[in-house]
Amino acid sequence: MDAAYLADWANLLLRWLHLIAGVAWIGTSFYFISLDNQLEPAKDGNPRVAGEQWSVHGGGFYHKQKYLVAPERLPEKLHWFKWEAYWTWISGFALFVLIYWFQASTYLVDPAVLDMPAWLAVLISAAMLVGGWVGYDLLCRSRYGENEALLGAIGIAALAVVAFLACHLFGGRGAFLQVGAMTGTIMVANVAMVIIPGQRKMVAAMQQGAAPDPKYGRWGKQRSVHNTYLTLPVLFIMISPHYPMTYQSSWNWAVLLAIGLAGALTRQFFVLRQKGRNAVWLPAGAAAVVALLIWAGAPERGAASAEAPPFAEVQAIVAARCASCHAARPTDEAFAAPPKGVMLETPQQIRRWAAATRQQVQTEAMPPGNLTGITAGERARLIAWVAAGAPAE
Ligand code: HEC
Repeated sequence: MDAAYLADWANLLLRWLHLIAGVAWIGTSFYFISLDNQLEPAKDGNPRVAGEQWSVHGGGFYHKQKYLVAPERLPEKLHWFKWEAYWTWISGFALFVLIYWFQASTYLVDPAVLDMPAWLAVLISAAMLVGGWVGYDLLCRSRYGENEALLGAIGIAALAVVAFLACHLFGGRGAFLQVGAMTGTIMVANVAMVIIPGQRKMVAAMQQGAAPDPKYGRWGKQRSVHNTYLTLPVLFIMISPHYPMTYQSSWNWAVLLAIGLAGALTRQFFVLRQKGRNAVWLPAGAAAVVALLIWAGAPERGAASAEAPPFAEVQAIVAARCASCHAARPTDEAFAAPPKGVMLETPQQIRRWAAATRQQVQTEAMPPGNLTGITAGERARLIAWVAAGAPAE
């Protein structure tokens, strides 16, 4: 069986798993943050109960109580939340390797950004994944770790540096996913290396009849709060490959940072709302940031005024620059089937995909990494042809 065909199936199945595990993980994460924020002082007088909540869901009533630091005795059965996070990372990392490492010359390296061999790009990408977590973890454990506001400011500055670096090392799409993979790795490592080990130590202490050290609870809570602010930015990054206008500009690193901030502000709005505060300026600020991006990123219409080339010329450009992948039987070995079902062989097909072609060619998302070496002049010709209504002659 063809390797590219099998890779497509691996891609689909891993992506499906990644989505399912991610939904489960972020779902529990959102749930527990909102529960924590909405706890009310306990009424039954148990001094160990820090707060409680009544809720109704799925036809039943639930009464939840949070113990700080812990209940007097451990219950026989304790439910842990970890596999959602672990499987999100396992599937996500496998997907990242499959797409961005195995096909690094298509998806990670862009000679127009920085020409480097695929193996070097993979090495840098791996080093950044590890380095991101190590740097973040050291920062949280340092003396700045106690000061949440300072930590947040350093975090935003670090994100700016990492986004800038990634976007100057890799093609836009790969750079965005690199930052997303780094952020996702930090989030899962927070669970695997801090939250869960801390909880294990608390449980072990109680099993030996000792009082658990409250610092583990504090550390775990800090990382869990960080994770909640990272969810919306990470989810944006994960869908960004569909939207070249975000990752294909010379300011793409700033776009990444701005949308990331807009996501974190929006998350903060919900966190405050759960605590009874309605800080509408937060989503308004996020909307303003996005509106600014839409305005600043609008493509110039200059090229549209150029005269449309004859259709034969368009056909020749597309045959030379696009059809090696976008054909019923791609000659590019990386593809078993035309990517996204887009075929650009017959005149009908070329005209059918005219608007999408303009979008992809204008943002320079296609050809990926400019593998087929399209020239700026050819791009302008294609755009002018679409702008003129994609005439068939
Ligand atoms: C090296 C292979 C390759 C070449 C050459 C190539 N493409 Fe693509 N194209 C792809 C891949 C891969 C995708 C799917 C991208 C993704 O995963 O989102 C794609 C997607 C597209 C899409 C659909 C975008 C969407 O998400 O709906 C269009 C339209 C497109 N290409 C147009 C073109 C045009 C026009 C050219 C020539 C100027 C071209 N491509 C050259 C590989 C290629």
